[in-house]
Amino acid sequence: DIYRASTTAPVNIAVIKYWGKRDPKLNLPTNSSLSVTLSQSDLRTHTTASCSASYPKEDSLLLNGAPQDVSGARTQACFRELRGLRSQLEDSDASLPKLAALPLKIVSENNFPTAAGLASSAAGLAALVRAIANLYKLPSSPTDLSRIARQGSGSACRSLFGGYVGWEQGSASNGSDSVAFQVAPASHWPSMRAVILVVSAAKKGVSSTTGMQTTVATSSLFASRASETVPKRMQEMQQAIQERDFETFGKVTMMDSNSFHATCLDTYPPIFYLNDVSRAAIKVVEAINAAAGRIIAAYTFDAGPNAVVYYLEENEKQVAGLFKTLLGEKDGWKGERGEKVEGNFA
Ligand code: DP6
Repeated sequence: DIYRASTTAPVNIAVIKYWGKRDPKLNLPTNSSLSVTLSQSDLRTHTTASCSASYPKEDSLLLNGAPQDVSGARTQACFRELRGLRSQLEDSDASLPKLAALPLKIVSENNFPTAAGLASSAAGLAALVRAIANLYKLPSSPTDLSRIARQGSGSACRSLFGGYVGWEQGSASNGSDSVAFQVAPASHWPSMRAVILVVSAAKKGVSSTTGMQTTVATSSLFASRASETVPKRMQEMQQAIQERDFETFGKVTMMDSNSFHATCLDTYPPIFYLNDVSRAAIKVVEAINAAAGRIIAAYTFDAGPNAVVYYLEENEKQVAGLFKTLLGEKDGWKGERGEKVEGNFA
């Protein structure tokens, strides 16, 4: 017999950044964070999990057709947690097939080019965890699954919910309260749009995992960011979302991206994620906002040079339209809430 289940999980882009771990093993963060989930029609991972006694003994994972290493501690932690929950079910109900003991085969596909240089680990780990939970018919809630996905990759916990999603840092040393929560569904503020400017499709220089550890160890700016700046912004951001206040949403988004990259620069040796093209994108957003006389566009950058620019549908022309004119639309790969425009400012 082959047992099988499928699911999809969306990409999320943080507007308040997770940067720093208080426990690298459990992926417990030094600050809470908040993200916007992109529409699944644009950016998502589709994953099928299956298990069978007829499979080779080793668990396996294929991403876009290429075999991936599953021996890492993080993937193993997710497998172990999910198998543990399945074993509990099997122990309490002898009629259930013994799936926890069978080898797993995971097959994942991203509906966006991996070459786009977008962080796909969040959607990938979230889909992996939910696909296995579905396969095992676990009664777990999205909150429970976010606790497991967090151990695979911190930002993945936010991809278990749609819309506007927070990740509460928590204080328990076992991570029980470090989980994601929905701030508002996408339908609460449906005119939110994002354009992704692919500055470079190359793989990032310093991985988030390594980068944030070095920051925690060496940056003097980091402590105040984690203890003062971010807690205040988490409040402001949640209120801005509740009130659909784009000016505050945009301002806090840009300031938090700047704060995160300042902390990277304050790391020793310094980490440079932004490049000249990224800085040109910031200038364009500033020019758009200056022309409008208010904030109608907001940039944010993760651990790489690509810009994500948030705006409202009513300002499509002034924001995405301008970027398209500047860049030239090479491959129109558009959707309801996310849009990729590839090109160069030069
Ligand atoms: C800059 O979730 O990739 O994108 O927990 O080590 O897997 P690990 O890190 P990861 O870090 C994401 C960092 C970020 C900000 C964010 O998404 O909040």
